[in-house]
Amino acid sequence: MGLPRTSVCHFFTVIALVGFCLNAAYGKITSVYVRADVKAVDMPLDADVFRVPPGYNAPQQVHITQGDHDGKAVIVSWVTTEHRGSSEVIYWKEHSRKHYKAKGEVTTYKYYTYSSGFIHHTTLKNLEYNTKYYYQVGIGHTIRTFWFITPPPVGDFPYTFGLIGDLGQSFDSNNTLTHYEQNPSKGQTVLFVGDLSYADNYPNHDNVRWDTWGRFVERSVAYQPWIWTAGNHEIDFAPEIGEGEPFKPFTHRYPTPYKASNSTAPFWYSIKRGPAYIIVLASYSAYGKYTPQYKWLEEELPKVNRSETPWLIVLMHSPWYNSYNYHYMEGETMRVMYEPWFVKYKVDLVFAGHVHAYERSERVSNIAYNIVNGLCQPISDQSAPVYITIGDGGNLEGLATNMTQPQPHYSAFREASFGHATLEIKNRTHARYGWHRNQDGFAFEADSMWFHNRVWYPVEDSAVSKS
Ligand SMILES: [Fe+2]
Repeated sequence: MGLPRTSVCHFFTVIALVGFCLNAAYGKITSVYVRADVKAVDMPLDADVFRVPPGYNAPQQVHITQGDHDGKAVIVSWVTTEHRGSSEVIYWKEHSRKHYKAKGEVTTYKYYTYSSGFIHHTTLKNLEYNTKYYYQVGIGHTIRTFWFITPPPVGDFPYTFGLIGDLGQSFDSNNTLTHYEQNPSKGQTVLFVGDLSYADNYPNHDNVRWDTWGRFVERSVAYQPWIWTAGNHEIDFAPEIGEGEPFKPFTHRYPTPYKASNSTAPFWYSIKRGPAYIIVLASYSAYGKYTPQYKWLEEELPKVNRSETPWLIVLMHSPWYNSYNYHYMEGETMRVMYEPWFVKYKVDLVFAGHVHAYERSERVSNIAYNIVNGLCQPISDQSAPVYITIGDGGNLEGLATNMTQPQPHYSAFREASFGHATLEIKNRTHARYGWHRNQDGFAFEADSMWFHNRVWYPVEDSAVSKS
């Protein structure tokens, strides 16, 4: 004998609601959502999403990113395999017959026994804002045509970012990307918080998996820029097989516009995009005092003009505030170095990955400690950012399910599910944020918030999800 099915459902619903409410009463939520415990598995090499485009020397792995500091340039990258081919890009504005040409450059690299294809990078400059451009690559052989839409001018304009991290190339990764594409929020640019292909999980870092990843994500990143952050899976440091140059595949394949922000390395840099000033930091490059990254950030933060770009967003790979038993405190040394600056300059939001789960923090800081005063607890601080861990893209390493208990007070919402998020900046005061888990419908937000700008409307953000 058992309970009728509906009664069982009601029973579990009640238990779930009780659990939710008990936590919510304390302002903290560890989601009670229960997902199927299935291991994430990489898609096989013959998966349709890895298909090589047809045609002689057809460009593949086409991707774009911002190419300057203020959003009027785009770097177009692609790979040809049979022949070096042309690095020229032909592009034009929608409804215009005037065609432009840009010349680029080609690079190759070897990694252990792997030899890359011809990797092309061409920058399209002096683009008009808010404009749809078509572009063609593969000139002289097989031409492929794509398009992108440039951002609004730098200033107080609405704009929507997607947030994806630790994506990899598993069946779950594909699910995450599909959910992002189908999300009615319509992300216009992806802020990617590191760990792209996970090729380094294969024997000798099989770089064929960098190629498959490039073909997999082309369906999004050929049409809208992804802003790159370097994660630990981009390091590819393997001296045991003679590969001692860190970040070799990543730097050859995924350029960043770092020189435009006076950075000296592609792993830390900044861009302006519409209403946002975005600073990308490098968790795996030196960041201590006197280092190039430290000196750059020290000079960079005072340059941010919040009248011009109301929203200040920081991307990094290793999170500072994380309450999972994975990578716990790995971001601590960088937090100690830079957190006082984040509070001083009123960073609105910090997005990180690395931990393969989702978590959103309260607005907290932990900057009072001076070794002898004992003040080493995170405290509520409305000048501090909200820290969001969005490393739940779905890679083959699987979910981080083991959380520290009890949930620390700095943690507002946490759930071990694959997914992505969107940030809809509406104006200089309000931004709507939503986290989507892959098991739900495309429009469903499992965690949603209105964030208020720290300079223009620094009211207390409610800690508890509106969902
Ligand atoms: Fe990572």
